[in-house]
Amino acid sequence: MNNIIISIDGPSGAGKEKIAKYIAKKYNLYHLDSGLLYRRLTYLIIKNKVNFYDKNELVFFLKSLKKISTRKNKALRNEKISSATSIIAKNQIVRNFINNQQKIIVKKIPKKRRGCVIDGRDIGSKVFKKAKIKLFIHAKPQIRAKRRHKQLIAQGEKSIYSRILRNINLRDKTDKKRSKSPLVVPKRAVIIDNSYSFKSTIKQINKALTKIV
Ligand code: DC
Repeated sequence: MNNIIISIDGPSGAGKEKIAKYIAKKYNLYHLDSGLLYRRLTYLIIKNKVNFYDKNELVFFLKSLKKISTRKNKALRNEKISSATSIIAKNQIVRNFINNQQKIIVKKIPKKRRGCVIDGRDIGSKVFKKAKIKLFIHAKPQIRAKRRHKQLIAQGEKSIYSRILRNINLRDKTDKKRSKSPLVVPKRAVIIDNSYSFKSTIKQINKALTKIV
């Protein structure tokens, strides 16, 4: 049986990816980072100079794309792509396209996996409403900004804490207030606070996942 789906939603920088990786490894699940699909699509829109505000042009461009790569790339995480992605992700045509991509990916996960753990903003509330277990990860904005700032510095990039915090607050607002698939706590979701040590987060996660052991 390889149809277990675990959804992980939460705001930007809450630690969804690290948690998803932990769960994927522990329970032999495939990890799908839906934010990465939005980021790659944004990168492609910018690279191909697609006029995103022209509906016909956007639809034409999306039709020309077969499969969005799930390959990770550091450049997709920079602040320019992050900000542009949060604008592009508001568009329903884009959302339908990415949702469809996610369904295709999940259908094709290797048989050896027990299922899939998917992280994003609307996974438990919209895309995979029937997920066996739903998690909602949050952490205080200041803590998320501090972690992101440290990560950028460690990568040798320039970073100003106050700017990172401002961007995080702005992205939270955009994600929560948008009319299409806003960031919400899905029904049945277990809320996990990732403001403290990873050990304390893991404790909460393991408790929430006792159902799938
Ligand atoms: O999780 P992330 O920071 O990599 O997501 C990048 C952007 O994509 C973010 O602005 C929110 C958006 N996103 C979304 O709208 N829905 C998802 N399921 C995943 C990401």
